[in-house]
Amino acid sequence: MIQLTLQERLQQAVLSLMPAADVSSVLVRPCPEPKFGDYQTNALMGLAKRNQLNPREFATQVVEALDVDDCCEPVEIAGPGFLNFRLKTVAISHALVSAAKGEHLFYRTAEVARTIVIDYSSPNVAKPMHVGHIRSTILGYTLAQAFRLLGHKVVTDNHIGDWGTQFGKLLVGWKEHLDQDALAADALAEMERLYKLVNSACDEDEAVLDRARQELVRLQDGDEENLGIWREMIDLSRHQFDEIYGRLKVEFDETLGESFYNDRLKGVVDELTGSGIAEDSEGAKVVYFNDQKALKKHPAMVQKSDGAANYTTTDLATLEHREKSWQPSEVIYVTDGRQQLHFQQLFALYTRWKPQHAMKLNHVWFGAILGEDGRPFKTRSGEIIRLSDLLNEAEQRAFDAVTEKSPDLSEDDRREIARVVGIGAIKYADLSGNRQSDYVFSWDNMLALVGNTAPYLLYAYTRIRSIFRKLEGESIEPPASFSLGQAEEVALAKHLLRFGLVLEQVIDECRPNFLCNYLYELAGFFGSFYENCPVLLAEGEVRAQRLALCDLAGRVLKTGLETLGLETTERM
Ligand code: ARG
Repeated sequence: MIQLTLQERLQQAVLSLMPAADVSSVLVRPCPEPKFGDYQTNALMGLAKRNQLNPREFATQVVEALDVDDCCEPVEIAGPGFLNFRLKTVAISHALVSAAKGEHLFYRTAEVARTIVIDYSSPNVAKPMHVGHIRSTILGYTLAQAFRLLGHKVVTDNHIGDWGTQFGKLLVGWKEHLDQDALAADALAEMERLYKLVNSACDEDEAVLDRARQELVRLQDGDEENLGIWREMIDLSRHQFDEIYGRLKVEFDETLGESFYNDRLKGVVDELTGSGIAEDSEGAKVVYFNDQKALKKHPAMVQKSDGAANYTTTDLATLEHREKSWQPSEVIYVTDGRQQLHFQQLFALYTRWKPQHAMKLNHVWFGAILGEDGRPFKTRSGEIIRLSDLLNEAEQRAFDAVTEKSPDLSEDDRREIARVVGIGAIKYADLSGNRQSDYVFSWDNMLALVGNTAPYLLYAYTRIRSIFRKLEGESIEPPASFSLGQAEEVALAKHLLRFGLVLEQVIDECRPNFLCNYLYELAGFFGSFYENCPVLLAEGEVRAQRLALCDLAGRVLKTGLETLGLETTERM
């Protein structure tokens, strides 16, 4: 917030000297070296250069035109033309007082709300969800939370894979090999078994492949029996997906599967061919991107030679539907990195088809999850690890740890804490790294009580809460000012003030790890504040101010964790 105030005033000062300047890149950021100041801008040097001015002279003029006396010490010009800002204690105090009164929590909601569509999770029917889907689910949900926190309108859509050629094989399996008991016990596992069974039978026997093709055609032609089985497969799958979503506490505004767009696919292909965007290539319809270097060698197919549409066609229809329904300013797709080419083609193709669209199309991709041996994460016997087993194990391991640490808590309490910590640990481990790096799944790392982990942050939160339990109903008045006499108080306060900036960075770059790092640092600043500044033993105003700092740190921590999709607990 304070940083935004500085930034706005800086932009005004620049405009007063250079009325035609584009000030959108005149940004104020935390100073990388705290000894030089709290905030910094490096934007003036570029502006000066582009306008053939001496950068230091230009910086001097800007400082003269800049009025930030109420919140900063005299602004310093450093090096070739950086500006360094150091906050006055009174400005920090002012921000803390209003936050303590509940007027804000160091972030500002958008003046103009944007609409963002986020396509995430999107598993496939008749296939169990596995660890690969967890990253999309966790990342997508967090991004939605962050945009919403900052006042934007978000539409989340679970684009489940409920259509495609795999249903031919699944129908053969269902009709010829279905084991009802197995289906009742674990529907997705049974459907997966059927698929694998028929799939390998097809490799050996042309006749089976033929039957699968016929079943698929019947399904596509609307045969009642096949449609009935198909619907049942969707219902059973969704039921199991919902169980996982329930445990992860993840929700969607829409679940429009691929099949929702079936009626539109032919029209899309006709429009693309009619306007000359798609061309015939050996019976298939193909789009070439000769004007785009990265895609030159990668034409996209929108209709196969047998007349069937595909993943790309469906995604074009989906995007059209999203544009019409919600007029979003941005559409975000959260999938693993192997789909990069698909989305590059999709975005280029959609823009050629509808050049007037004004949506930012954004593929937010992530790396693979690896086992500790550095290979794709699998069970010992090489099977894909199921999400439900993974969540069970996380809760069990957390339960063992809690039991060891706090054996005196009741079993129910320990189970509930273990649920929050175990699920939180899985989520946090997924969010805290650079999403584009592969990440090594390690129970020991994610459940460690020290380091940048969920247990560490959740524990820090319980420590703050325990301070307030000791007050036992004593009423605390929000302080009228903060004297911030100790360095640790100042450091904590300044860090709290940066919460909003970090949230902005998370939505700008779709990188929740910025928020994880921020919260990890917050816990560290809080820890040294609490070690060095007595709170409950302090007296009068100082005690009230320190309690308020504890409360604000707790609220920022909780809001941050909730944005990451983590629940908190009062005890651990
Ligand atoms: N179902 C796809 C998969 O599991 C992901 C879909 C992503 N969203 C989309 N609109 N293409 O790979």
